[in-house]
Amino acid sequence: MTTVLLTGAAGYIASHTWLALQKAGYRVVGVDNFVNSSPVVLERLAELASAPIEFERADVCDAAAMDEIFGSYRPAAVVHFAAYKAVGESVSQPLAYYRNNLGGLVNTCEVMRRHGCTRMVFSSSATVYGAPEKLPLREDAPTSSTNPYGATKLMGEQILRDLGVADPGWQTACLRYFNPVGAHESGRIGEDPRGTPNNLMPYVAQVAVGRREKLSVFGNDYPTPDGTGVRDYIHVTDLAQGHVAALRWLLANPGSLTVNLGTGQGYSVLDLVRAYEAASGRKVPYEVVPRRPGDIAACWADPKLARELLNWEAKLDLARMCEDSWRWQHDNPHGFKPA
Ligand code: NAD
Ligand code: WQD
Repeated sequence: MTTVLLTGAAGYIASHTWLALQKAGYRVVGVDNFVNSSPVVLERLAELASAPIEFERADVCDAAAMDEIFGSYRPAAVVHFAAYKAVGESVSQPLAYYRNNLGGLVNTCEVMRRHGCTRMVFSSSATVYGAPEKLPLREDAPTSSTNPYGATKLMGEQILRDLGVADPGWQTACLRYFNPVGAHESGRIGEDPRGTPNNLMPYVAQVAVGRREKLSVFGNDYPTPDGTGVRDYIHVTDLAQGHVAALRWLLANPGSLTVNLGTGQGYSVLDLVRAYEAASGRKVPYEVVPRRPGDIAACWADPKLARELLNWEAKLDLARMCEDSWRWQHDNPHGFKPA
């Protein structure tokens, strides 16, 4: 059985990917320091999982701890999720972002090399496209960053490309996620942001459940059909499946890849609000406020390369994303914390 090590394993996307990998027949070992997640996730995963939950609490920047974990489990590949991800916070705390996101990546790669493990799936982001010149976004579109978080993803990809040049034995898959939303269909795991949510769907979910009074819509004067920002929302279950496909590819082919994981379909803020109201049967009051600095008008993927290379495509629609998010939010109004 092939062993896969997930860093940031208790996080939102990794926890869903854990279940998908197990279902696909991999042995999964999770590593996390819970800097942005809860140990309760592991209990929920144990309920849902088809195999035992194997987990080590560690910081990916800690070389000695990671060495020990690699020595014990001997993974054949790593899916590297561990990172900080709040764009605004990265502007006020750039060093923390560079240390954790790039220090953690470099340390993980060094440990991998010492243990002869040279396959990594890396959580990249559509943020590497900066302000798009042309839509849909293909993988060969120009890249740029406008904040330290985005810079860590651009540099993370570069580090992995450089590794592949230095040693063609290294194989890496940079997965550029568009906007991950939704939750596991069981309603037992999902996104549980600390403090005020930065992202649209978790905010809308908290309004629907009554934790917040109303949504602030950041601008309705963009050059989009209804004036609000347009994004490519992708169900986290589809995203998880994309990791299984990328890992399979790395294990079966030589070389490396960089692919978009998106649906190819853009929805506006107001489209999402209406879909959430329909899924939840609750009203989502909103008010239009000025644009959020750094936001772009519209962004959606060309998902063709992932279809061709990985035989993967997103299947779940916006209604399903909202239904699954709502089940999670409704059943766990305070996330993984007790009420
Ligand atoms: P998340 O915060 O829920 O998960 C990240 C996990 O990594 C958390 O459990 C956190 O505790 C852990 N972690 C962070 N630093 C660590 C360290 N030094 N050592 C050990 N564990 C550490 O975030 P997510 O939304 O699941 O994102 C996962 C990955 O996908 C991140 O790399 C993120 O940048 C990337 N990504 C996320 C989105 C999104 O919108 N959610 C979009 C594109 C890319
Ligand atoms: C979506 C739309 C907002 C909140 C961010 C990161 C990106 C990636 C995913 C990690 C936009 C509008 C939002 C709110 C609103 N993360 N909005 N009111 O900005 O596309 O991407 O998360 O890699 O790097 O930048 O996602 O969910 O924040 O916003 O009107 O309270 O919703 O203006 O149009 P975004 P988002």
